[in-house]
Amino acid sequence: MRSEILRTDGVVKSFGGVKALKGVSIRVKEGSITMMIGPNGSGKTTLINVISGLYKPDDGKVFFNDKEITGLPPHEIYKLGLVRTFQIPQPFMKLTVLENLLVAYPDNPGEKFFGALRRGKWRKVEEKVVEKAFKILKLLKLDHLWDQQSYKLSGGQMKLLEVGRALMSDARLIMMDEPAAGVNPVLAHEIFRRFRELKDKLGVTFFLVEHRLEIALRYTDYVYAMANGVVVAEGVPETVMVNPQVIEAYLGG
Ligand SMILES: Nc1ncnc2c1ncn2[C@@H]1O[C@H](COP(=O)(O)OP(=O)(O)OP(=O)(O)O)[C@@H](O)[C@H]1O
Ligand SMILES: [Mg+2]
Repeated sequence: MRSEILRTDGVVKSFGGVKALKGVSIRVKEGSITMMIGPNGSGKTTLINVISGLYKPDDGKVFFNDKEITGLPPHEIYKLGLVRTFQIPQPFMKLTVLENLLVAYPDNPGEKFFGALRRGKWRKVEEKVVEKAFKILKLLKLDHLWDQQSYKLSGGQMKLLEVGRALMSDARLIMMDEPAAGVNPVLAHEIFRRFRELKDKLGVTFFLVEHRLEIALRYTDYVYAMANGVVVAEGVPETVMVNPQVIEAYLGG
């Protein structure tokens, strides 16, 4: 049986009078695509923020690979291989697709390296790093775009580039908040297909928040449904989607 890569025990988080998380316990199996669903304001993003270290929980614990990470700063959690992707920061838009991966390599030599990139001298970077980047780009089917400036990518390709950057740091668990948001249906399917391939080929685990259920659920192994700061259902997609509390949460308003 595969082990748990991520676990939260009774996570509580309030903002002033708003109890965003009222004791959330989840388990994410290694090598799975696990999805968190729930109506607007149910606490999904807050949970991701607590797991990734952006917010400290008021109560409860978070474990990654059986190590407690509750309250650790985000960069330390990142170094352990739990990576939460953000939109690519603006300065990186001018870099090429390949360069975006190279600068995400954790041991890159910093500013000098950056300067070298800007002068188009990335070839001086250690060959193994470039090889690794190309291997990842191939998996993402972005290799033909390696010298394209990143701002020219489509929304869907940018989401994949974010994943590529995470993989450069040897992420074992990738958390994404609404990866299919704003992406056309064809590309959204493409993104989720890539996730499944990465999971099969690299054993990477995905923990995703998504509203586009009609697309996302067919690529998902396990689902947690949240409403009002608590988990109301969990299981395989087919059972969760017919759960009365889930239907009530979505339709009951
Ligand atoms: N930084 C914050 N300060 C104050 N309140 C917050 C903050 N972040 C979240 N909240 C509140 O916590 C609750 C949960 O918000 P959260 O963003 O986690 O929901 P969500 O499930 O991600 O919603 P959506 O599907 O709309 O993204 C909401 O009532 C929200 O207003
Ligand atoms: Mg959210």
